[in-house]
Amino acid sequence: MGSSPNITLHDKAFRPYLSAAELATAVEAVAARLSADYAGRRPLFVVVLTGGFMFASDLLKRYTGDCEIVFIRVASYEGTSSTGQVQEVLGLREDVQGRDLVLIEDIVDTGTTLHHLLPTLLAKKPASVEIAALFFKPASLRYPLKLNYIALEIPNDFVVGYGLDYDGLGRNLPEVYVAA
Ligand code: XMP
Ligand code: MG
Repeated sequence: MGSSPNITLHDKAFRPYLSAAELATAVEAVAARLSADYAGRRPLFVVVLTGGFMFASDLLKRYTGDCEIVFIRVASYEGTSSTGQVQEVLGLREDVQGRDLVLIEDIVDTGTTLHHLLPTLLAKKPASVEIAALFFKPASLRYPLKLNYIALEIPNDFVVGYGLDYDGLGRNLPEVYVAA
């Protein structure tokens, strides 16, 4: 993405990092693996809002089997470092007992969000829980997590675009930018 210009969100400069085509290739690969692994099982995809919306949309339109889709909201996040504050799960009204759940997340950074969310979900006795995330920052991870469906591993830099925001801005961008 060398040819795209830098952008400014609020007071902060960002440079192009991943093109829409590079994102599509990575998302397609995860969709193909999920389609193969869950063939015949009718998984329940649990999209974690807000950041996961664009990844989920592109991922799930490439998922080939029967599935159900629900949306939840869990965490607040401000600025460029994780707050560690995780709110309760909102919006999960479906009975998930015995279901194969696949959480769809924008990014796993420290893992704090999932570390708090997983016990809440496991208490509802699903048959299985897997995590599909667009991004994973391995250098930041603080908790042991089983991350089987990662689209892209990235360095410990703040990224925006394709669902991810910097203080509310940038979620609509079709490509991903990194702090300049
Ligand atoms: P944890 O640390 O709980 O972080 O794994 C997960 C949540 O933190 C936010 N996050 C980011 N948001 N650019 C963003 O726009 C980033 O580089 C970034 N890193 C973490 C995000 O809300 C994610 O769900
Ligand atoms: Mg998030």
